[in-house]
Amino acid sequence: MIFVKEKKSRIAIVGANGFVGRNIRKFLSRNEISVASLTRTKYPHLKYETNIRYSDLDQKNLIAKLKNYDALIHLIGQGTQSADVTYEDVNVELTKKIVQLCKNAKIRKIIYISGFGVSKSTTFGYFISKFKAEQEIIRSGLDYTILRASYIIGNNDPLTKNLNKQIKSGSIIIPGSGSYRLQPISVNDVAKVILVSITNKQFLNKIVDLVGPQTITFENFIKKFIKKRAKIKKIDLEKAYHTALNQPRNAIYGLDDLNILVGDFTGNHKKLEQLCGFKLTPLKEIL
Ligand SMILES: NC(=O)c1ccc[n+]([C@@H]2O[C@H](COP(=O)([O-])OP(=O)(O)OC[C@H]3O[C@@H](n4cnc5c(N)ncnc54)[C@H](OP(=O)(O)O)[C@@H]3O)[C@@H](O)[C@H]2O)c1
Repeated sequence: MIFVKEKKSRIAIVGANGFVGRNIRKFLSRNEISVASLTRTKYPHLKYETNIRYSDLDQKNLIAKLKNYDALIHLIGQGTQSADVTYEDVNVELTKKIVQLCKNAKIRKIIYISGFGVSKSTTFGYFISKFKAEQEIIRSGLDYTILRASYIIGNNDPLTKNLNKQIKSGSIIIPGSGSYRLQPISVNDVAKVILVSITNKQFLNKIVDLVGPQTITFENFIKKFIKKRAKIKKIDLEKAYHTALNQPRNAIYGLDDLNILVGDFTGNHKKLEQLCGFKLTPLKEIL
């Protein structure tokens, strides 16, 4: 698929070497779109891609390198925290630096992947940091699109990686009843939405839910995923939280993984389809 208008855009990506970043870069490269990818470590670059290595987003030389790019896709994020690296350090403070970088380099638009379920009234740490990052972007005066993503599924996504690791040990754990729901979306659809959101005025200064076309309970998701490769084992939810709190290194699901799962966040995918003008990939084609 070629997006003619977007082809002329010059796009920068931060967090370019993570799961979503790798997939978006491949998608943009296939569509012959020029991209500047900012990373902390070296990696093989793709066609139509310039790699910019950095150690700090404050670095002055980044401004000249990114001068007058049309848009920046902000994919830096941290899904677990410790005393050494907190959500505030990564999700909030680095967003402030990215906003400043956009302003200094005169990049007009920022696209940010937030979390589905994030709101002002949220009470848990990861979502609070995502909400605060959203606020930094909204208040910046830059053009923005904030995409609040449910589970993004694709090659080597964090949930699939976790489940495949569990399969190797012979069983997949379901914390509690497994009746809480999720709404996974294909990473290819996410890449398309991001690209459309860069030039489509309907995405201007909006928060959009990035949810897939099917709502499914976690238990049914696991049954579809597992394809009889391992057993399913349900454990008491209290036990799952106890391990996440007291032995975080051994926990299969971290504290905020559990919060997001049990949070049972679902939304309306039709709104997203209307906005972006294409049909989202059905779950059976994603798994
Ligand atoms: N995957 C999902 O299902 C999902 C769902 C909802 C929202 N999101 C959001 O979407 C964004 C991308 O997710 P992802 O799955 O691609 O995550 P990921 O694979 O963990 O990648 C995160 C990126 O953030 C960068 N990063 C982390 N800490 C950093 C730091 N201290 N300084 C600079 N860079 C740092 C990493 O850089 P390095 O490569 O250099 O380590 C990596 O490129 C994140 O904001 C995430 O919260 C993802």
